[in-house]
Amino acid sequence: MSVDVRDTIKIEKNGDGITWLYLNRPEKRNAMNPTMHLEMVQALDELEVDDETEILVLTGSGSAFCAGQDLKEFFREQDGKPKERLKVGRASQEWRLRKLKSFPKITIAMVNGWCCGGGFTPLVACDFAIAAEEAQFSLSEVNWGILPGGLVTKVIADSVRYRDALYYILTAENFDGKRAKEIGLVNFTAPLDKLRDDTVAFAQRLLQKNPVVLRAAKEAYRAVRTMDYEQAEDYLSAKSDELKLRDPERGREKGMHEFLDTKAYRPALAPYPR
Ligand code: COA
Repeated sequence: MSVDVRDTIKIEKNGDGITWLYLNRPEKRNAMNPTMHLEMVQALDELEVDDETEILVLTGSGSAFCAGQDLKEFFREQDGKPKERLKVGRASQEWRLRKLKSFPKITIAMVNGWCCGGGFTPLVACDFAIAAEEAQFSLSEVNWGILPGGLVTKVIADSVRYRDALYYILTAENFDGKRAKEIGLVNFTAPLDKLRDDTVAFAQRLLQKNPVVLRAAKEAYRAVRTMDYEQAEDYLSAKSDELKLRDPERGREKGMHEFLDTKAYRPALAPYPR
């Protein structure tokens, strides 16, 4: 096991392909300050080409997943400093949205506690989200005099049912993990004391599948969402051809061979044996 502790984040690896990336300011409920944004950009750059990292789990230390932007260090202390704001503002969006959304390996947000405001952006940007039943979600912005900015409103619009999205944006009412599942914000929940085990079990299922195929499948899904049918048909055809060339495992041939010739597995029941 290796643990790499930096100023505001922590990276843990156990030799099983799963890398745990912690927002690590538990005393501040993992509120995101400028240092954290810069460290996260750096960490994601490193991990996307790290051979030990096959699946990335983003989570928080202590009782919170992420209490959103740090109101003191990210907001108040940057007010009236346009150059500093530009730099940390760009870093903030860079890792929470672009780097996570285009991360070449599978990403899972494991919501262990409070998730507030700006914490929704990395949550939605991850491929999967698993929450503790006891976790608390809060779109708190209107309670302190702003609207959910910095793309929070947009990621909510993309992930949560219409009426529920408006309800929580306008009331800032808290909701728990079970409710997050009902409204489409997370894939599934677990009691807090089983959260890590259930996340590992889920990650292990994904580790059995061809990672190059998973990458192409998620890139394709994200891309076609804004295309019309003709564009999507053309794109998916080209993407499929690209995958055949890019896949060192030759998964397509192997998958057909193991099913049709050796009868080693059934695709509707399991991935081909790797
Ligand atoms: N920005 C800056 N500091 C924050 C913070 C944030 N978003 N969230 C928590 N903290 C700090 C608190 O100021 C406190 O610091 P202190 O010990 O120096 O006083 C420390 O973290 C612990 O917070 P506290 O409120 O005592 O913890 P709690 O467990 O009782 O409550 C929350 C947790 C998340 C309910 C509460 O901290 C909160 O409402 N935070 C703001 C969340 C928010 O609105 N985020 C949106 C930002 S976009």
